[in-house]
Amino acid sequence: MILPRIGVFDSGVGGLTVLKAMAEQLPAHYSYFGDTARLPYGTKSAETVARYAIGATRFLEAQNIDLLVIACNTATALAFPLIQEAAHVPVVGVVEPGAAMVAEVSKTRSAIVIATEATVSSHAYRDALHRHGLTAHEKACPLFVPLVEEGWIEHPVTEQVARIYLGEALQQAPEQADVLVLACTHYPLIAPLLRRIAPGHMQIVDSAESTARAVKKMIGEDSFCHPERSEAAVATERSRRVPIDLKMLPAEHRTFRFYVTDSVDKFKRLATRFLGRQVDHVEHVDLENRG
Ligand code: DGL
Repeated sequence: MILPRIGVFDSGVGGLTVLKAMAEQLPAHYSYFGDTARLPYGTKSAETVARYAIGATRFLEAQNIDLLVIACNTATALAFPLIQEAAHVPVVGVVEPGAAMVAEVSKTRSAIVIATEATVSSHAYRDALHRHGLTAHEKACPLFVPLVEEGWIEHPVTEQVARIYLGEALQQAPEQADVLVLACTHYPLIAPLLRRIAPGHMQIVDSAESTARAVKKMIGEDSFCHPERSEAAVATERSRRVPIDLKMLPAEHRTFRFYVTDSVDKFKRLATRFLGRQVDHVEHVDLENRG
């Protein structure tokens, strides 16, 4: 069987939440790119984020991917059309699948969206939820990303920050809001902490699961099997890919490669923690100085 090759892109470790959800459902060769040296994207302009995202797209396309997943809400919100235009493969973002999931679960048709500054300013979620007939109250939570990147997942400082952000959001949002949308791929990593703080009646939704579903559907509809590629070419390519046994996943038919623009060791540490299994094979890449 020739598996699809899926590129996954985020500014850091947050996209691992999407990678994990996809890998649970979908046999594939996964190439993950985390632009850790230039994180956070959430405080940058649309032009800068688009430039970085297109650089990452070019890099992942050079790894021969069949499909690209923008596992970053900020990049999707600010630059999706530009990435799509620049890419030579189909592109899936996280905003639309996330909004579709919220529309599925909300009874009151009203949601609170927490995200980076840039995603909130773009109103990409508000607009996507409007298209599904929902209203949205958006709240920027800029401190969450550095706290997650620091690995402070269950930490008193993170808890205190979350109490302040959610308190403010709840005060300003309409009372009937019944969904809290984690509109940043870093936030699911602190979901248990947010669950403890958010009112019990609110459902928490993130876009990892729904994006995985969207990718699965897309792959089902398209043929990524490339029967024209010779077995020898496929074998050579396979030998370059490093299989990682993420125990809870059926290991066969899934391989993972990780690329980061900053510290390999830090990424290994965080990725091992977030994926729940040892992540050893991570390569450093320098996109700034590539020809
Ligand atoms: N993971 C990014 C997102 O989903 C946020 C991280 C950043 O600001 O770079 O928005």
